[in-house]
Amino acid sequence: MTNVLALKSSILGEHSSSSKLIDQLLAQYNQQSATITERDLALQPLPVLDGEIAVAMRAPEQLNDKQLEALALSDKMIDELILADLLVIGAPMYNFMIPTQLKNWIDLIARAGKTFSYTEQGPVGLITNTRAIIITTRGGAHKNQVSDQQIPYLKNILSFIGINDVEVVYAESLAMGPETAALNLEQASQQIKVLEHA
Ligand SMILES: Cc1cc2nc3c(=O)[nH]c(=O)nc-3n(C[C@H](O)[C@H](O)[C@H](O)COP(=O)(O)O)c2cc1C
Repeated sequence: MTNVLALKSSILGEHSSSSKLIDQLLAQYNQQSATITERDLALQPLPVLDGEIAVAMRAPEQLNDKQLEALALSDKMIDELILADLLVIGAPMYNFMIPTQLKNWIDLIARAGKTFSYTEQGPVGLITNTRAIIITTRGGAHKNQVSDQQIPYLKNILSFIGINDVEVVYAESLAMGPETAALNLEQASQQIKVLEHA
């Protein structure tokens, strides 16, 4: 049975296009009785990585309450990730990047000895049995252009922790008129319908 971890990161609540596309994908997995863990990172925000939290994640000794809480959250996020066969990431583009809320999740799961390690040959990702689907939504059109630093960044960090099987669903030009938006959302929806295993 597939174990799915889905991360929503839109700040637009019920108006979010990426969250709606994730819901469609999760409905497909529901029909296959998959186990689904859904995290709305905007509704339940994670702490911002700062000096105290970075120290806690490296040397968990004599921690204050804030550090203990952040470390427990980091452990929980990593446990969820290790359990997942499939990681679904909702990645709306805000100011040419991923939402802060999603970056906060990444900052909590990127932990030496847990999700990656450094060897004499370089870094090795430790999340080896998980594949990923990224659903990205944008007002403009950026696919394969220099203005898209979201997908290269996400693929880079996923590869760093060991996830190299990554599919991307693009819903672009959503601010370029209602007809274009509807057409591109429909295309993304069709792409989700025929995703491998979904
Ligand atoms: C604060 C903010 C910043 C945005 N920045 C960009 C941007 O840099 N480039 C772009 O193409 N679209 C941008 N957009 C448009 C969003 O990418 C678009 O509305 C998308 O549907 C958001 O996904 P969501 O509906 O799941 O939140 C921005 C939207 C917001 C609200």
